[in-house]
Amino acid sequence: MAGCGDKAKQEAPAAQQPPAATAAASDHAAELAACRTAVDRLGQTLRGALQEAIAANGAIGALEVCNIEALPLTKTISTEEGVIIARTSLRVRNPANAPDEWEQARLAEFATRKAAGEDLGAMEVWEVVDDAAGHKTFRYLKAIGTAPMCLQCHGGELAADVAAAVKKLYPDDAATGFAVGDLRGAFTVSKPLS
Ligand code: HEC
Repeated sequence: MAGCGDKAKQEAPAAQQPPAATAAASDHAAELAACRTAVDRLGQTLRGALQEAIAANGAIGALEVCNIEALPLTKTISTEEGVIIARTSLRVRNPANAPDEWEQARLAEFATRKAAGEDLGAMEVWEVVDDAAGHKTFRYLKAIGTAPMCLQCHGGELAADVAAAVKKLYPDDAATGFAVGDLRGAFTVSKPLS
């Protein structure tokens, strides 16, 4: 599931030096706060559900929980926080999580920033962009690292039963082969500006 979890629990310091794409939106404090709140909530919810399911049924049981619950949990938090939140990655398990053009470019920048030594735990970016209909939208992306527990379902060597279940549920899965500390993906949040 969320972590199906994630590591996005730490709040990035508000006074952090904004990267280039971020500067243009630095006056949107309310939108930024809403995005960070939604990310914290989704991260904690997903991690909690994942840990609980692994403890009860092992990775194989948790896999089904993730498969069935990740998207509805995400939708509930979107509605309650007044934003649109999801998870994405350059290598997705569920094709529904595939990045759009903006996300893909920002994820590539995250990979570059990480290669330059920046900590994934505080890595984020935001920008005001025009949506497909030409409306101004506040967009926010927060990096998700790979923790040891993630390897059970996203590592280089999955247990045979887990590998078989993943293949059955996600025939096009590209989300294995990660190592601890790798950039696994990101939380992506958007909020229309009126
Ligand atoms: C029990 C197996 C399991 C574990 C453990 C697990 N995941 Fe996943 N993960 C999944 C499944 C299944 C999906 C697809 C969910 C869906 O259908 O939306 C997924 C999807 C994701 C996605 C969304 C992008 C995509 O690939 O579709 C991210 C990001 C992610 N996981 C990160 C993590 C992180 C970080 C951890 C460790 C904290 C973790 N996962 C641990 C099973 C797992």
